[in-house]
Amino acid sequence: MSRLQNICYAILFATLAIYHKQIIGFLTLSRTSSLETYNHGSLDVCLQPDPLIPSNKRTEQYVKDKVESAAYQREIINKLSGIIQIPSESYDELGPIGQDERWNIFFQIEDYIKQTYPRVLSTVQLDHANTHGLILTWKGSLPPEEAKPILMLAHQDVVPVLADAVQDWTHPPYDGHFDGELIWGRGATDDKGYMISILESVDLLIKSGFEPKRTIILAFGCDEEITGENCGRPISDFLFERYGRDGIYIIMDEGSMGVQTEFNQSFAMVSVAEKGYLDATINVTAAGGHASNPPEHNAIGVMSEIVVELERQAFPANLTPRNPMFGFLECAVVHAPDSDLLRNVRGRLGDAALDKRGAQKALAALLRDMQYYFKTTQSVAKVNGGIKVNAIPELVTAMVNLRLAVESSVGHIKDHYEELIKPIAKKHGMAFQGFGDESSSSSVRKISLSTVEALEPAPVSPVASEAFEILSGTIRHTLKPLIEGQELIVTPYLMPANTDTKFFWALTKNIYRFTPINLVHNLNRAHTTNEFIKASEFVREPYFFATLILNADDAAGKK
Ligand SMILES: *[C@@H]1O[C@H](CO)[C@@H](O)[C@H](O)[C@H]1NC(C)=O
Ligand SMILES: *[C@@H]1O[C@H](CO)[C@@H](O)[C@H](O)[C@H]1NC(C)=O
Ligand SMILES: [Zn+2]
Repeated sequence: MSRLQNICYAILFATLAIYHKQIIGFLTLSRTSSLETYNHGSLDVCLQPDPLIPSNKRTEQYVKDKVESAAYQREIINKLSGIIQIPSESYDELGPIGQDERWNIFFQIEDYIKQTYPRVLSTVQLDHANTHGLILTWKGSLPPEEAKPILMLAHQDVVPVLADAVQDWTHPPYDGHFDGELIWGRGATDDKGYMISILESVDLLIKSGFEPKRTIILAFGCDEEITGENCGRPISDFLFERYGRDGIYIIMDEGSMGVQTEFNQSFAMVSVAEKGYLDATINVTAAGGHASNPPEHNAIGVMSEIVVELERQAFPANLTPRNPMFGFLECAVVHAPDSDLLRNVRGRLGDAALDKRGAQKALAALLRDMQYYFKTTQSVAKVNGGIKVNAIPELVTAMVNLRLAVESSVGHIKDHYEELIKPIAKKHGMAFQGFGDESSSSSVRKISLSTVEALEPAPVSPVASEAFEILSGTIRHTLKPLIEGQELIVTPYLMPANTDTKFFWALTKNIYRFTPINLVHNLNRAHTTNEFIKASEFVREPYFFATLILNADDAAGKK
């Protein structure tokens, strides 16, 4: 556990109650008349702000005209294609920056940004965090104490393409091929499309003559796909040093969510939290000995018993109001009234909101396909043990990967595992060493637990904040529903994976992960073969980001 995360977790508890109230307040002002509350078109559930139009109409029009022009579209497609051609892969086993030469590819990315966006680079201040973390600061006319900066994150690194997978790609992963409709290649959606879009939005704003009141910061990590320790954390430390606790107005980052259709309704899904993460290691150590005289249960047998017990006592699924998915379902029942599934959901939401456990369980059971959003998942991912068939195994190791429910905590998971495993140790007369225990026993026969990586669930960002209202209003002004004739509904959502924002909890409560494109078409290929982005959607992204900057600027300085 990192120091930063520990501090932030303390804030989480201090503020969770407030967030909770805000979500409920925003989405349902009245919880008492549950059935009425969740009827179609209910006025007080899933409130949608009006489309938010920047006061600076001239600048907005300039950007809008640009993104609709063929010349601009050709250019930005080329810019994305060019950066895809730099294979900035990050590997699990990379050594430190400055020692492992494989990091040097990120110098090429920096050069590419400098060559492609000279106007941006001559306007912003460029800072480096641990060499490859890039921080671009466009200073506003107001000091940060009067108008907190807006921060947009993206990452330069991509998931490696394995050599023998290259042949499975329709177009080579690092050609950046554009076929007239799609831009192909590793990083097209994750996350170079996002990076180019925010750079372009700033470039367009500079070109228009816009002068910000509120400082605008772009920050690009180099290792989001691995640990984030090499760039993600140094960038957050740098910004914390400069702006302090809660010193940032809003953070935007990639989301695994964007504009999507669910229950035949168009939603703009904004991830307002992330599930937690834990890798746990379980060791069973036993004396070896001669295979002709084996014990009744050797280390493999004991480990098997542990795995069976963990799975039998798996974490339950409950949909509680603390989960942003609760807000999503409120939006869904109100705005997708024709769905049969949702009819059953609607009847139970009121009771679930009143914290009735039965209704919370029933909801999770109804929404089976989405269940991983409502519970802590666990997967015994790796087991090692035994060396040869005529020897008794002396050490068996299992690694379990867990994704923590928003209501859970690393401590809770550890307690649960210790409670389940300790009796098994006792039963077999083995010593037991829980998480974080110093080895107290010299016994050869023991079960010991440890964690490799641990991250608490992210604090839930408020949906009743000025920042979220500006974001929602910008979404509704700049993006279109996927189904013609529908209203685009902005909804909170939960991210089951983690982004670099895990380092930024102390900088603002307003952390929103959202990709302003149709993700049904696009993101399903991230991390796998044939990643691509649809050009017609990608070229419009800068319009969204530029409008967000303009709208956030309108709110600057007014208290
Ligand atoms: C989906 O919604 C659209 C418009 O809102 C409607 O015309 C269409 O019939 C719906 N499709 C289904 C399968 O319900
Ligand atoms: C478990 O075994 C692995 C592999 O031998 C070792 O690296 C690790 O330190 C052990 N952990 C505990 C808690 O005993
Ligand atoms: Zn990513």
